[in-house]
Amino acid sequence: MSESSSRLGPIRRRAVDAGDGQHRVSFKGMLPSASTTPQNQTQDRDAPPAVVFDKVSFAFDDHVVLRDVSFTVPRASMRILLGASGAGKSVVLKLILGLLRPDSGAILVDGERVDQMPEHDLMRLRVDIGMLFQESALFDSLTVAENVGYRLYEESDAPLADVRRRVEEVLGFIGLGDQIDKMPSELSGGQRRRVAIARAMASKPQLLLFDDPTTGLDPITAATVNDEVVKLRDLEHVTSILVTHQIRDAQYVSTHEATRSASEGVEIRETGTVEHARFLVLHDGHIYFEGSMGELLASPDPYLREFLFMTLPPW
Ligand SMILES: Nc1ncnc2c1ncn2[C@@H]1O[C@H](COP(=O)(O)OP(=O)(O)OP(=O)(O)O)[C@@H](O)[C@H]1O
Ligand SMILES: [Mg+2]
Repeated sequence: MSESSSRLGPIRRRAVDAGDGQHRVSFKGMLPSASTTPQNQTQDRDAPPAVVFDKVSFAFDDHVVLRDVSFTVPRASMRILLGASGAGKSVVLKLILGLLRPDSGAILVDGERVDQMPEHDLMRLRVDIGMLFQESALFDSLTVAENVGYRLYEESDAPLADVRRRVEEVLGFIGLGDQIDKMPSELSGGQRRRVAIARAMASKPQLLLFDDPTTGLDPITAATVNDEVVKLRDLEHVTSILVTHQIRDAQYVSTHEATRSASEGVEIRETGTVEHARFLVLHDGHIYFEGSMGELLASPDPYLREFLFMTLPPW
């Protein structure tokens, strides 16, 4: 869409001028889209995995962050990415988006190599990715509604009233319906985080990358976010990578499943281990552990025990 035909008009220009350079470069493609992908496509058995890392190495100058990292995220599944501060979790998400390029190895999203993909093609791919940056990255010159609905306003032909309805709906999920016309500067840190979460979910993307979504949220809002993530995974078959420092939230999403029935509507129940929600622990530049929550908790490995001991609340 050209600048002149932008449905946000002059607002968009202000938005693009706002924020730091890194976010601005890929602004359009990072925001969630009005996805037209049929839901059943996510369940196609022949379809490639949602994300593949094959021997990926990455360094900032001489500071090596990832060494030969390999993992696969099948469609409609969840990977919960844990690791100490500085382990490289955010770097992994930025590599998936093509905001960073690996030094070696291959990264595939939806079967396509993103590590060498030109920016123009990356923007097309990002249309179906909902990203929550750790730092929220809202556009300060846009209202809450414009932030959340940005991509829908800009890149879908949906009537404005429909976009507004969807924006109200996702803001309602996370308890911010009454803040819809505020500016980000008028919100608390936790509220800004919730707006960013709503933005990532607004267009029902096929891949969600959430960087520490519940840190800084009150427990009730965090529970709402966890439930939304579980519903997207189990009812909409959205693939997700969830980076978190909140083991309690990680445990919740890996042990609860959403179901929908005619009689009961949508229900979220504790089910023990959810097979398609698995843990990855990043340590020392590689995937140090991959398995279920139960396997993680039972591991005798000294590093994992220390990591969990430092992170776990008293159960
Ligand atoms: N733009 C950058 N330039 C140089 N070094 C960077 C940059 N961004 C991150 N790093 C370094 O790369 C390493 C991995 O960073 P990353 O942000 O992925 O950590 P993280 O696992 O997400 O940590 P946290 O849990 O604190 O968010 C860290 O040592 C960090 O200092
Ligand atoms: Mg991080």
